[in-house]
Amino acid sequence: MILVFLGPPGVGKGTQAKLFSEARGIAHISTGDMLRAAIAAGTDLGKRVKTVMDSGQLVSDDLIIELINQRILESDCAKGYILDGFPRTITQAEALEKLLKKLNKTLDAVVYFDLPEEELLTRLAGRREQEARVDDTWEVQKERLRVYKNKTESLIDFYQKTGKLRKIESSGSVEEVLAKVQLAL
Ligand code: AP5
Repeated sequence: MILVFLGPPGVGKGTQAKLFSEARGIAHISTGDMLRAAIAAGTDLGKRVKTVMDSGQLVSDDLIIELINQRILESDCAKGYILDGFPRTITQAEALEKLLKKLNKTLDAVVYFDLPEEELLTRLAGRREQEARVDDTWEVQKERLRVYKNKTESLIDFYQKTGKLRKIESSGSVEEVLAKVQLAL
């Protein structure tokens, strides 16, 4: 099973990807987590992406595509995986299609998490207090939402046309949203 979890920052994609991947025994691939781990470890990759991430902008398509290219070949991906936070641009989505074709695999579904902006901001504010993510200041969160609208939102239409999009109204508790995801898939 190969899935994409798509949606704005703070909607709960990461929370749901973690729970769903554990329930199905598939890998959870979060590009944001991979980049944050690289920064924490002080690797070359981490040094290259830190300023971009801290400002709420997107890391370059080439770099992210290469990261995914390598990650999905790892052994824990054999039974399937959830791509959480990738793709984020049309270029990345097209690269994913090519990559899967080369591996003779297909994307099963794209789960699009939707939530009114007011609720998004409430969830992000909650996380700001619980975690110390550098890109969770009020200003950077607003910038990330702007970047999402400009560069990522067009993927909804892109995947709608493939017939693979499953829209989840993401209000409600974590458990309620998970039940909707399970039903949709
Ligand atoms: P990334 O880490 O992917 O950030 P994001 O997409 O902005 O997503 P978030 O992690 O902010 O939110 P989420 O939807 O996962 O919500 P969560 O589950 O945490 O990316 C960070 C940066 O990395 C990017 O800005 C970019 O620079 C770079 N990057 C990553 N991928 C890239 C790519 N493909 N291309 C280029 N650059 C890339 O939930 C949010 C909060 O709400 C939590 O506190 C949670 O506990 C709470 N919550 C969750 N569900 C519920 C619920 N149902 N009810 C109440 N609270 C809830």
